[in-house]
Amino acid sequence: MSKNNENRDYEHKQSVLEHSSARRERKDPETGFEPLSLWFFSICVLVLLVGGGYLGAKSAGFDFGRMQVSGYKAGTPPDFTPAGPELSEYDKYYKGGEAVYKAVCNGCHQANGSGQGQIPPLVESEWVEQGTERMAQIIINGIRGPITVNGASFGAQEMPAQKGALSDQRIAQVMTYVRAKFGGISDAVVTKEMVADARNRHGSRVAQYTVGELAGEDAMLPGEQPAWMSADDESAESDESGDGGEPAVDDKAPESKETK
Ligand code: HEC
Repeated sequence: MSKNNENRDYEHKQSVLEHSSARRERKDPETGFEPLSLWFFSICVLVLLVGGGYLGAKSAGFDFGRMQVSGYKAGTPPDFTPAGPELSEYDKYYKGGEAVYKAVCNGCHQANGSGQGQIPPLVESEWVEQGTERMAQIIINGIRGPITVNGASFGAQEMPAQKGALSDQRIAQVMTYVRAKFGGISDAVVTKEMVADARNRHGSRVAQYTVGELAGEDAMLPGEQPAWMSADDESAESDESGDGGEPAVDDKAPESKETK
């Protein structure tokens, strides 16, 4: 019996012991909540202290003005003015005409002057290459009815008068451009005085011209060439060589011949 009692006593003590020690023991940490090692923690604190101290000392209080390296100057951007020689007076005049052509004539006669359908070409056209008097008549008042251009017949469409839309200067520039670009004539320009004179003589007409009413092929608009045309003769030569329009004219030539 006593043996039994002893046993029971022992078992009881054991279970009490187990309970109290179990209560004192820490629970097994769940994953992700393991305690930091003290070493790791103190190293982090040290890094923050030293790093913060360094930044504070060297940053001049994060004041931008004081943080700039002394003597620093932003680099100047490269020069944006385009390189190369300045445009000559002729080139400016020509470019003015090109702008008028693109705005007004392009839609019908096409950028390369080839025309389309019943709109005749300006390339290889006797109306462009010959007398400026009749060319001015065509542009100022427009033209209708049958017309032969480089051997091909047109007439189904009319060209409207341009006198209302374009100033003397604009007409002069576009005539200069068309004659140079499509007719290869760049040794003479049409001036606004010439166009003003033509407008005086032809501009009061209401309807478009027909071919029979135009001036002869040799009639040129009277008037002087501007001073800058004779002044820079040498640069006029380089203008001609730089005039990329002529090859395009030659390209188109066989095509317009075939339509004969
Ligand atoms: C609305 C279309 C149209 C516009 C815009 C137009 N033309 Fe024409 N142009 C014609 C037509 C169509 C003819 C031929 C008319 C005919 O058959 O009688 C012609 C004829 C000509 C001719 C004589 C024939 C030839 O091909 O050489 C010249 C030169 C000419 N135009 C130059 C110009 C110039 C320069 C401009 C711009 C300022 C211009 N045209 C604007 C339609 C147009």
